[in-house]
Amino acid sequence: MAILYNPQENIFHLQTDTASYIIRVLKSGHLAHLYWGKGIRNSNFENLLKMQERASFSPNVSGSDKALSLDTLPQEYPAYGNGDFRTPAFQLKLENGSTITDLRYQNHRIYSGKPKLEGLPATYAEQEDEAETLEIDLFDSLISLRVILSYTVFKNHNVVARSARLVNEGPQQFKLLRALSMSVDLPRCDYDLLQLQGAWARERYMERRPLAHGNQSIESRRGASGHQLNPFMALLSKNAGENYGEVYGFSLVYSGSFIAQVEVDQFDTARVSMGINPFDFTWKLEPGSSFQTPEAVMVYSDRGLGHMSREYHRLYRSRLCRGKHRDSSRPVLINNWEATYFDFNAEKILDIAREGANLGMELFVLDDGWFGKRDSDNCSLGDWFVDKRKLPDGLKDLASKVNQLGLKFGLWFEPEMISPDSDLYRAHPDWCLHVPGRKRTEARNQLVLDYSRKDVCDAIIKMVSDILSTAPVAYVKWDMNRNMTEIGSAVLPADRQRETAHRYILGLYRVMEEITSRFPDILFESCSGGGGRFDPGILYYMPQTWTSDDTDAVERLKIQHGTSIVYPAGTMGAHVSAVPNHQVGRSTPIETRGNAAMCGNFGYELDLTKLSEADKAAVREQVRTYKEIRHIIQFGDMYRLLSPFEGNETAWIFVTEDKSEAFLTFFRVLAQPHAPLSRIRLEGLDEARNYKLEGMDLIMGGDILMNFGLNVPELQGDYASFSLGLKAI
Ligand code: DGJ
Repeated sequence: MAILYNPQENIFHLQTDTASYIIRVLKSGHLAHLYWGKGIRNSNFENLLKMQERASFSPNVSGSDKALSLDTLPQEYPAYGNGDFRTPAFQLKLENGSTITDLRYQNHRIYSGKPKLEGLPATYAEQEDEAETLEIDLFDSLISLRVILSYTVFKNHNVVARSARLVNEGPQQFKLLRALSMSVDLPRCDYDLLQLQGAWARERYMERRPLAHGNQSIESRRGASGHQLNPFMALLSKNAGENYGEVYGFSLVYSGSFIAQVEVDQFDTARVSMGINPFDFTWKLEPGSSFQTPEAVMVYSDRGLGHMSREYHRLYRSRLCRGKHRDSSRPVLINNWEATYFDFNAEKILDIAREGANLGMELFVLDDGWFGKRDSDNCSLGDWFVDKRKLPDGLKDLASKVNQLGLKFGLWFEPEMISPDSDLYRAHPDWCLHVPGRKRTEARNQLVLDYSRKDVCDAIIKMVSDILSTAPVAYVKWDMNRNMTEIGSAVLPADRQRETAHRYILGLYRVMEEITSRFPDILFESCSGGGGRFDPGILYYMPQTWTSDDTDAVERLKIQHGTSIVYPAGTMGAHVSAVPNHQVGRSTPIETRGNAAMCGNFGYELDLTKLSEADKAAVREQVRTYKEIRHIIQFGDMYRLLSPFEGNETAWIFVTEDKSEAFLTFFRVLAQPHAPLSRIRLEGLDEARNYKLEGMDLIMGGDILMNFGLNVPELQGDYASFSLGLKAI
């Protein structure tokens, strides 16, 4: 890792172990992008930038240099209005109504470490020597606008983390119309775009399409990252697959409305940019104030998608997630949601917890319905006081009894919401997002609290903290079950109303920071109707996320496979639920439900008291196995061997960093008559070592397992699967 500066040529060379990213300051002061790809030696890069005169429809910066046109120049943070007709990285409106800006290089700094982004989540370095940061100051001298571009490279991670800070150093007031986190111009466009699309209960399906001329984008206008499109995008060379070909990954560390786009221009170059969605966004930038964009994390891989994913996994696991639980084994949990929904009392809860303890589980989670008068989803959000009708002896008593059974106690909250039928709403009807005179659109019978307001955030911090300090709570499930409508705040002036959605996210981050640091021992899991806000921004505060409300084992193959494109298995909540499955009505064997759920943070979400003795025996065995292998899943490297998006079979293997242990899972969705014999080639093992295949009484060489492969044992029936532990001997 290094950031090298050549003052003669005015060139910056950002080096990771495997990639190079090269930027040049032109004589005109424009910041040009020269190269991003496989690592190259530091040498003379003077000739990398080829410029040539174009027709007059590509205007020139100066009459004396007809080859320099912003319309064709590959740039790092393009402005709007003076010759570049492609998508700008930022745009602002001046007091005179103009939206034209002109940025030129002013100076730069290279230093060890990585500073925090004010008020925003971001990747971090624990020691100064783990990372190097380059800051480049661009300046518009007419209006005294400074844009500070920040680039960080890490010692053990092949990524470039980028963000921008816009500072108003002049006397006039600006209105920011757009402030993206990154922009880069790639010299080619023969790529496919990979996105993760979905819906509630069907999150993060892989979707690949060829780039075409013009703009192609994915975005959210929901005020949250959303189930529909994840704040991630990759460009894949045409031949790229799981293990080969060039891939460029872009991941945004942000939880609100975002955009990620690629514009292919007339000369077949591709401008990639990403950041806060400019749709319905403006930000007033007063003299002396600044605006910090979220961080975009960019990965180049010359070894396909699998390698890109593992780069994200390692970075996000160790330098995005934080706190005590980042490196601790995550408990096997039992959650009562699908067992009882809102219909429970203390006895029922203790019955389930008791059974969980008998089966070896470690944490009981009390889900929705313990507070206010919440017998259905139509009331009480905001009234965070225990419902004595259901729990007459209170939460502390229940939690202590659960503890006495040998389980830790976890609790569900939905702190960003308010039910119109709640004491909180009756007392503070202006505490929700709303626009005066307009109907307040409800979703799941609830409204969104106005987290752009400091007083609302402070009140919620207090309410949640009060509960967490009165009962021995070891885990919190932080849910969020609707998106924003009528986005407006009662306390912002008219010219700041369009700041509300981003201010909400800043408020949310402050609330999460405050609560998680007040209760460092609690394990926090985020949730949004399953995986509706599974993004890197939230992972900074809460190291795991409920992956999807869909717990059907077959559905989970696609959901977990797609999620793993960016996010490590140790961030994914994965539970075994009852059959027929509550979301899709399918009945799959308990073994297959277990094998799928064991590929994440394992748990159960069903009425354990109703299980047959045979199922209980299977569950006991699953819990025992998971405890033995969870360090491999939670902290190892994942290799996707067979994709559920491509066929009837799915296989994943998880391998510890030292390659001494591995855990393989294989799934066949539908049985086939007279099927061909399957053999899977494993990955990630040490070719030079021998591995014991647990339960098979077999020892095989890593080289054989990875090159010849493993013969898949005979499987019977639909939805069949097997799992296998491997230990180097
Ligand atoms: C949505 C979550 O995804 C579920 O797991 C459950 O917690 C419900 N909300 C409770 O309302």
